[in-house]
Amino acid sequence: MRPTTTESDYFLKYHYFWEFMPKNLNTYDGKMLVSEIRGGDYAHPGEELLIEIVLKRLSILPNDILLDAGSGLGGTAAYIQSKTSAKIVGIDIDKDAITYSKRKYPFCDFYRGRIEDVGKSFKIKFQYIFCFCSLYCCNSIDGCFASLSSAINLNGSIIISDYACHNRELFKMQSVMNDTPFTVIDYLQAAEKANCHLHYFSDITDRYLTWFDDLIVKIEKFILKTHSPTTHNAACEVKKKCMDIQKALREDSLRGVIMEFRQKPLP
Ligand SMILES: C[S@@+](CC[C@H](N)C(=O)[O-])C[C@H]1O[C@@H](n2cnc3c(N)ncnc32)[C@H](O)[C@@H]1O
Repeated sequence: MRPTTTESDYFLKYHYFWEFMPKNLNTYDGKMLVSEIRGGDYAHPGEELLIEIVLKRLSILPNDILLDAGSGLGGTAAYIQSKTSAKIVGIDIDKDAITYSKRKYPFCDFYRGRIEDVGKSFKIKFQYIFCFCSLYCCNSIDGCFASLSSAINLNGSIIISDYACHNRELFKMQSVMNDTPFTVIDYLQAAEKANCHLHYFSDITDRYLTWFDDLIVKIEKFILKTHSPTTHNAACEVKKKCMDIQKALREDSLRGVIMEFRQKPLP
């Protein structure tokens, strides 16, 4: 039996896809399930609260062009658009996520593409490039930095809000995620190679812990009102993943960070 939590065409389509349980939350089906549980098109801890924390430090001007790199289902780009009069562009490697974003948020521009190719794909330069939990699933942090640093204005920034692995051996033993996030040292080394420096750093692990508490409560409520056994099982998988991430955060093999990188000034 199909759950009836929403009447949107997208979700009806998605409920059909739920017949195939998402094993990886970064697949389109996985993202759609998590978005329904979170109650918004977000795939990062803290949803709008995190975006607010990131935005409040910045002075975004109406003529700025911004990029959401790894835009997922488009909720982050749409939220930033609602808070600024700058132009925002989203890119993601996931074709279905881009199709969904374009239809749901036509006031933003979305393109299918790789973060590693942003520097080559766009002729324009961006004032701010946001990476909300997108770099941790990329293969090459050097490739991402080389690409992103060539796509920002001289006074622009790359703003990364992501997981940071803090103890690789312990994290791998805990087998929390399919991908092992980069360490802060990895980010600093990649930035150095791309001629960037760290301008701002904040460790927000405590907030991540609170947000995971909240998310786990949302998942439990979702599980209780779900009628489909497949959806129920998928939501239980999501809950287990979230509890594993929370454990890694508590045991300090994983942290949540915000980092802003800028290009080094010309000599
Ligand atoms: C955890 S989701 C975060 C989505 C979005 N930033 C948000 O916070 O809601 C990670 C996203 O990065 C995308 N992604 C992974 N590797 C990528 C790459 N190399 N280039 C572009 N997007 C990528 C995935 O398809 C996915 O949508």
